[in-house]
Amino acid sequence: MLRNPSIKYQPFPPVNLPDRQWPNRKIERAPIWCSVDLRDGNQSLPCPMNVSQKLEFFRELVRIGFKEIEVGFPSASNTEFRFLRRLIEDNLVPDDVWVQVLVQAREELIEKTIEALRGVKHAIIHLYNSTSPSQRKIVFGLDKNGIKEIAVRGTRMVKERLPRLAGSQIIYQYSPESFSATEVEFALEVCTAVMEEWGATPEKKIILNLPETVEVATPNVYADQVEWFIRNLPNRESAIISVHTHNDRGTGVAATELALLAGAERVEGTLFGNGERTGNLDIVTVALNLYTQGIWPGLDFSQIEHTRTIYERCTGMTVHERQPYSGELVFTAFSGSHQDAIKKGFAAMAKAGPNAIWDVPYLILDPQDIGREYREVIRVNSQSGKGGVSYLLESEFGIYLPRPLQIEFGAFANDRIDEIGREVTAAELKQIFWEEYVEPNSPYELIHFHADGVDGVVGCRVSLMKNGEEIRISGEGNGPLAALAAALQSAGESPFEVSFYSEHSLGEGTDATAISYIQVKRPEGLARFGVGVDTSIELASVKAMLAALNRLHRDETQKSH
Ligand code: KIV
Ligand code: ZN
Repeated sequence: MLRNPSIKYQPFPPVNLPDRQWPNRKIERAPIWCSVDLRDGNQSLPCPMNVSQKLEFFRELVRIGFKEIEVGFPSASNTEFRFLRRLIEDNLVPDDVWVQVLVQAREELIEKTIEALRGVKHAIIHLYNSTSPSQRKIVFGLDKNGIKEIAVRGTRMVKERLPRLAGSQIIYQYSPESFSATEVEFALEVCTAVMEEWGATPEKKIILNLPETVEVATPNVYADQVEWFIRNLPNRESAIISVHTHNDRGTGVAATELALLAGAERVEGTLFGNGERTGNLDIVTVALNLYTQGIWPGLDFSQIEHTRTIYERCTGMTVHERQPYSGELVFTAFSGSHQDAIKKGFAAMAKAGPNAIWDVPYLILDPQDIGREYREVIRVNSQSGKGGVSYLLESEFGIYLPRPLQIEFGAFANDRIDEIGREVTAAELKQIFWEEYVEPNSPYELIHFHADGVDGVVGCRVSLMKNGEEIRISGEGNGPLAALAAALQSAGESPFEVSFYSEHSLGEGTDATAISYIQVKRPEGLARFGVGVDTSIELASVKAMLAALNRLHRDETQKSH
């Protein structure tokens, strides 16, 4: 890289618009959306879609709610031509959907396009030519008049052929390609001439599409260009202003959103941002951004996984894990503090009721609104802590760890997962929990426990394996657990007390079992939790006490070595 890049690269000149209005505006409604997946998206694929893939994609776009769909470049290839014919001849385009076709300002291509459109109900004919200084100089070798003439002549050629599409409703769209790199005054001059040639009126509006074919500046510059253009356009009410951004600087979404503030009414883009180089604008992101501001976008992404599957199957592309809204990991928190906050947020939402305003830290949208599941939200790796760990045990297995155990197991699980060195599944996490808290069985393993009592005094008889030998013991207390503690201590166990107890049921109905959490504590302070599971609450607590003592013994032995 150059230490002084200014000898090779120049900053893009700003637009002179000191009284720009867009920074003070808000986006208050959804724009008209036009999907260009089947054209701009398709032409960027290493392996472009065939007719049946395009058909599957088209149906999905219709299902989502697109009313304008650029279906291809019918003069460019046989597949493109056949696809449009198939849509028309098999009557596959709903009455409220406009198919859009792209064409360059060349007579033979316009001819072929008109032929492909025969019998269409509603179509947008989209003509473009490039207008920027570098395209004028390097690609076309033409001056400004020459470039303007291409646009006007192309428009005339389309207009002259319209009688051949009698019976069809046609809207005309013109794009000064590379608009964002074109002097605004010249882009305006070309578009004004095209509008005049077409005879645009408020009843017969033209679509003026202002492409950011290549991002060359910060998004505020594009917004200035769009606002300047709109404010200076004669006959403004005869045009629909459309934007079409790409993503070379990674700000395609921002550029579109600022252009909407600047007055654009229509947005072209693709699902998940597929498109040339770094891609087109990702319409999913802009639409769902609107949704999170309380605005219905007019596009239904409530089955986003399904949409993504179709997209991946048809295009052969994949959606990046971090792609806003649609990426696999975008609703997932691994970090402990994030998990904690999300868990609290979910609990607060549950308490606030179904009509509460969404307010969950780290999640700008309720994943369920777009068909994603809460179970994806919290995943556990070595960065996770008590929040994530306990959330997973709760949501997957109905195990509600008491808070002191959440803290203890959170730290323990964290160390174990660090050793494992990867994300763990919920089942693996439960296994870690079971091995540590439920399964320790030495020195004590329960064989049989029976308790009964009168007048608040409970007596118990217990058979146990102790260090591999069966023993029978008995004791009394004010409940079964106190009786067990007495029995154990009379059989040589060092003094201890129950310092924590809680239990709840696991599952429902006849399959329900009980899970019991007990902490035992030596007089000198060492304390350990144990967990027991059984169909009987009493036995669950007995097992929990023995597991706690077993853990205590293990750790005392380790300490003394
Ligand atoms: O990016 C672009 O400029 C285009 C035009 C054809 C609209 O795709
Ligand atoms: Zn494009």
